Amino acid sequence: MTPAPLRTSSPAVSTLTLAEARTRYTSGRGYLAACTLGLPTIDTIAAMRADTEAWARGESCASRYGEVVERVRAGYADLVGVTPDRVAIGSQTSVMAGLVAASIPDGAEVVLPRGDFSSMVFPFLAQAHRGVTVRQVDLADLAASLTENTWLVAFSLVQSATGTLADSAAIRAAARATSTFTLCDTTQAAGWMPVDASVFDATICHSYKWLGAPRGVAFFTVSDAFAAKLHPVYAGWYAGDDLWASCYGPEMALAADARRFDVSPAWPAWVGAEPAIDLFRSLDLAAVAAHNAGLGDALCDGLGLPRLSQAIISWPDAGGRDLARLTAAGLTASGRAGRARVAFHLFNDEDDVTLALNALRP
Ligand SMILES: Cc1ncc(COP(=O)(O)O)c(C=O)c1O
Repeated sequence: MTPAPLRTSSPAVSTLTLAEARTRYTSGRGYLAACTLGLPTIDTIAAMRADTEAWARGESCASRYGEVVERVRAGYADLVGVTPDRVAIGSQTSVMAGLVAASIPDGAEVVLPRGDFSSMVFPFLAQAHRGVTVRQVDLADLAASLTENTWLVAFSLVQSATGTLADSAAIRAAARATSTFTLCDTTQAAGWMPVDASVFDATICHSYKWLGAPRGVAFFTVSDAFAAKLHPVYAGWYAGDDLWASCYGPEMALAADARRFDVSPAWPAWVGAEPAIDLFRSLDLAAVAAHNAGLGDALCDGLGLPRLSQAIISWPDAGGRDLARLTAAGLTASGRAGRARVAFHLFNDEDDVTLALNALRP
């Protein structure tokens, strides 16, 4: 069978079925850990192999890597519904959150959900010396907790430890009513559910989980109005208006668009990211969400838990007994915050649910 073509340019229509996408994975059976570390497709593996071999032959080229980065930037922009000039690139969530945190006015307040992933928490706590106050509330109370004194609300769209989806519409409505900026981490969302980054002042996504890119490919989307409030504290040569004219000081001429928040890319990772992002741009993400959440619900049914319509399912496992059972059965799962955690992605199917339930039966 000839594989359906991956999309390598706009427009935003799905060209690949879920079944076709599943054929691009060499494994995935029993791998219930996309929330920890995604899997590469054969296209990502081939691209990275070819790049490593070209590197060994001395044929790697900085400007060609730069072209890859710009294609991935544009592809990611298309995936999340913004224009490429609103996308900055980098390598870690915490650094991007740190950029926003460093721009919070002295003495201002940030509201966060209690228990969010620390890369979305520590950068704000690290601003205490300037009088920045961090108020942490239950995720369910996040919208109601914003006041006219709140400068920023920062939260993950899908919580890392529990898979809980934040009520993004309510949080955004409350933020509008209180003139609060919104920063949303979509790391545990983009790739398994539709994500519209344009509805937030800023978003951060590290793409090594549900998007299956190599670690070290992260995106920061930002509105023009919010970008005007941010200081490009990590600016280096990659933030320059003209990259190759920005390699040395003493003057600094930064890009006018979101590129001024770029940090220089970990080149080989971007080579692997290109087919990864293209795969998910080629898919109907509502269909991926239905598939993943359907498997999550099937597991909940088997475990006697309420259905959650989530791709990540977790439950209390203080002693780690259930995680040990899953591991002993040859499954890859994870434990977080005293909970056993499993994740279902497009490479999983009902047989993975059965394997997990069999492993967990006493
Ligand atoms: C919600 C969320 N954001 C970000 C990350 C990764 O953070 P970083 O990019 O700082 O390593 C994780 C990892 O589990 C996560 O769950």
